[in-house]
Order: sequence, then structure tokens, then C-alpha cells
Amino acid sequence: MSTHEPKSRSAGGVFRTKSIEQSIQDTEEPDHALTRSLSALDLMVFGVGVIIGTGIFVLTGAAAKDQAGPATALAFVAAGIVCALAALCYAEFASTVPVAGSAYTFSYASIGELPAWIIGWDLVLEFALGTAVVAVGWSGYVRSLMDNAGWHLPDTLAGPSVAEGFGFDLLAFLLVLVLTGILVLGTKLSARFTAIVVAIKVTVVLMVIIAGAFLIDSKNYDPFLPPSRPSTGGSGLDAPLVQIMFGYEPTDFGVQGIFTAAAVVFFAFIGFDVVATTAEETRNPQRDMPRGILGSLAICTVLYVAVTIVVTGMQKYTQLSVDAPLADAFKAVGYPWFAGAISLGAAVGLTTVCMILLLGQTRVFFAMSRDGLLPRFFSKTHPQFATPYRSTILLGVIIAIIAGFTSIEELAELVNIGTLFAFVVVAIGVIVLRRTRPDLHRAFRTPWVPVVPILSVAASLWLMLNLPAETWVRFGGWMILGFIVYFLYGRAHSRMSSTTKL
Ligand code: ALA
Repeated sequence: MSTHEPKSRSAGGVFRTKSIEQSIQDTEEPDHALTRSLSALDLMVFGVGVIIGTGIFVLTGAAAKDQAGPATALAFVAAGIVCALAALCYAEFASTVPVAGSAYTFSYASIGELPAWIIGWDLVLEFALGTAVVAVGWSGYVRSLMDNAGWHLPDTLAGPSVAEGFGFDLLAFLLVLVLTGILVLGTKLSARFTAIVVAIKVTVVLMVIIAGAFLIDSKNYDPFLPPSRPSTGGSGLDAPLVQIMFGYEPTDFGVQGIFTAAAVVFFAFIGFDVVATTAEETRNPQRDMPRGILGSLAICTVLYVAVTIVVTGMQKYTQLSVDAPLADAFKAVGYPWFAGAISLGAAVGLTTVCMILLLGQTRVFFAMSRDGLLPRFFSKTHPQFATPYRSTILLGVIIAIIAGFTSIEELAELVNIGTLFAFVVVAIGVIVLRRTRPDLHRAFRTPWVPVVPILSVAASLWLMLNLPAETWVRFGGWMILGFIVYFLYGRAHSRMSSTTKL
């Protein structure tokens, strides 16, 4: 770490930055510190554990059926490129600012307090709703397994998408509460638990690829990219913003369909950024962070493309199921035993996705609380377990309730827009920090700065534009609420307000 005096910028208060040295020093504060126990392998397990989930197990079906056919494999490549560019930026930041809070901490150190608040608020949305989305997806798989065994939950306890009137997803609710308890007991325990579950999940994915490869019928690849046709989803606010902006008639399939699908299956990659949120708990973040992030992203991209090519080769894209496409493809070609094993693996695998998103969520909240932007009460760590138990419990209960009452479709796109927005801020932050703190030691340097960060911003914005206009409206509403909270609470209570001259 450099010995240079940190520069402090305080223009207008809202652009005051927290120095890198201050960020690292805060992690040493008694009662507000996390233990450093994770290795590069732990991080990669965390990464793969959270990345492979609802995206590949569930969303692939709808994307292929409604947007891109077998070319959904290309949508995964497009989304993977967006994530790789963002990962190169995340890795530099994570290895320079090895403290809890991910993009939030990075932007606090580089751009300023208000942008940091915005990104933290945005990440709370991403992780909380992401956890809820995955919990609901998990619940669907578990109910399907229970149905196989002849046990049926009443519709009112199967969630709003199944019940006619009032619906509460009991299983999703309970899953989030149990995982909250595990996290309160300590990260190391949950990392070990994760390692076992990740092994099961990856085995199931490899089983789909290897067994499925023998069941491909090449006729199913014709056409590989179905021709463009007018959208069946209506032409209101549910059309991609880019199509509305340029006055196109909304379409499905065709080249545009690949990008619409990419904006949806992008959800399948969410999670590599979560690895960065555990930097403070990593033994050697300078070396292990980039390895953890880039390694887990690379593994998942290869698996997704392979799974998509296999599944769309096994079953005509028009016939794919949207609830459990991987399992149902095996059923359709006469292998129900494989289908059962895949459903079981998916149910087990989604457990870790849910847990790690929840972990990322509590760590961002923890970091914001420690900085005083949210009440400091929440950042006190547990005397025995050394975990931020107060924020973990508070958020766990809120997310459990959200998961109980909401359906996947309403939330997944909102999660995507929030995550892409975080990518934009991190990429800008890389450029800013190179200029304001060129002296800092960077264990990993993003190549070709500023070209790579600029490409990352452009690619993320492009995917955001391919999300429905109504998603933009909801996202805007959440961010406006964030501004209100910041100006009514965070700005006055920030620890920086007492250490920085305004
Ligand atoms: N990438 C994770 C999933 O697909 C969030 O479920």
C-alpha cells in the first residue's frame, strides 16, 4: 500500500470521497471487523455457487422459446462478454480496495459519497430481489419433486403464481429464513456448506451436457436463428426500451432477439460481482480476488453455452418448457430418470445461489452502515460469530417476506437493470481512480484502460436498453426513493461529515 497522503475531495459534500487508507483502516475497528478466512478456491466456489442458478436452469427455456431459439447460445456469449468486461474492472477495484461492500466501497473511494450511496442502494435492490427470485425458483423445483413423491402443498401456500387468489410461497419464505440463520453462524461454515452443494450442482450441469449430447437431433437446429417477427408480447411499456426509442415495431427473434434474450439471460451471470463483496474476508485479496472472479466467470460461460446448445438440440425450441426446461427436455426424449436427477440437483444448487446473494446483500448493507449512511446499529458484529448479525437478520426477514409474496417475472428484469447499472459505475470508477490515485498498488490492473472500461460502460448500457421500458420506470422509482433517504438521513449521519471539511 502506498505511503502517500490520501487526497480528500469535498466539493459540495456529496462528492466527498473516503480514502482507500480510511476504508482499509475501518476494517480494523474492533466490533466492526470481519475475519479473514477465505482462499482463492473458496472464492471460486462462492462464484460458481452463486452464478449457476435460475438463469440457466429456468430462464433459458423462455429465452429460447420466445426470443432467440437455439441462438440463445449466442445470447449467453453476448451476456458473457458484457460480464467479462465488467469483471476486468471489478477485479482491479477488488484488489485495490480489499474491504467489504463491492461496487459501493469502490465508488466511495473513487467517485464520491453520493454516487457511492446510489450504487449501494442499487446493490441492495439487486441482491435482495435476486435472493427472492432464486428462492421462488427453488420453491418451484422442490414442489415439483414433492409432487413426484405424491405430496402436494395447498395452492395458497404454493405462491402467487400458482394460487388463484391469495398466495404465499411458504417454501421460498422458509428457505430464506434458514439461510439467514446459517449466515449468522459464520461465513466459514457457509463456505464449506457451499462447496458441497456446488459440487452437486456442477455434476448435474455436466450430466446434462454429456448425456444430452448423445440425444441431439440436428434437425432441431434448423433454423438456428429464427427469423424476426412482430412481438406477441404487446407494444406497450413491456417492449425493450431501445425498440421504443428508435420507433421500431417491437419484434421477437432475429438478430434483435439475441440481444433481448441476452438482457434476460444476463441474470444467469449475476453473482461474479458478489465475489468482490467478500474481499474483506479474503486472506490474500490482492492475488486471490482476480483469480476468484475471472475463474468462476470463465467456467460458467463455457457451461452455459454447452447446456444451451445441447438442450435446444434435444428438443425443438418451440416445444421447450419454461418452468424446468433442462429436466423437461430429458422427459420429452424419454429419459424421466435423468429429469428427476436434474430437478433434484437444481433444487440443491439454487440453495447456494440464494445464500450467497443474501451474503452479498448483508455485506453491502454492513458497509453502508459502518460508514454511517445507514444507522451504525446494524454494523455491530456478533461477539462470538464475528458476523454482522443485525443487518443479516433484518434483511433476511424482509427478503423472506418478499419471496413469499412475489413472482419471478416481476423481479428478474429489475435485478438485471440494477446490476448493469452497478457495472457502469464500477467501470467509470476504474478510470477515475487511475487518475486520482495513480500511486496505489494494484495487484490486478485492468488491461487497456480506458478502452476496456469504456467498452464495459457501452456494453452494459446496451443490455440495459434491451430491457423493457417498464423495468426502467420501476428502477427509476427505487433510485428516487434512495435520493430521498440519502438527503434525509445518510448525508447528515455519514462518518465522513465529521472527518471531512465541507
Ligand atoms: N446467476 C444466478 C442465477 O442464475 C443469480 O440464478
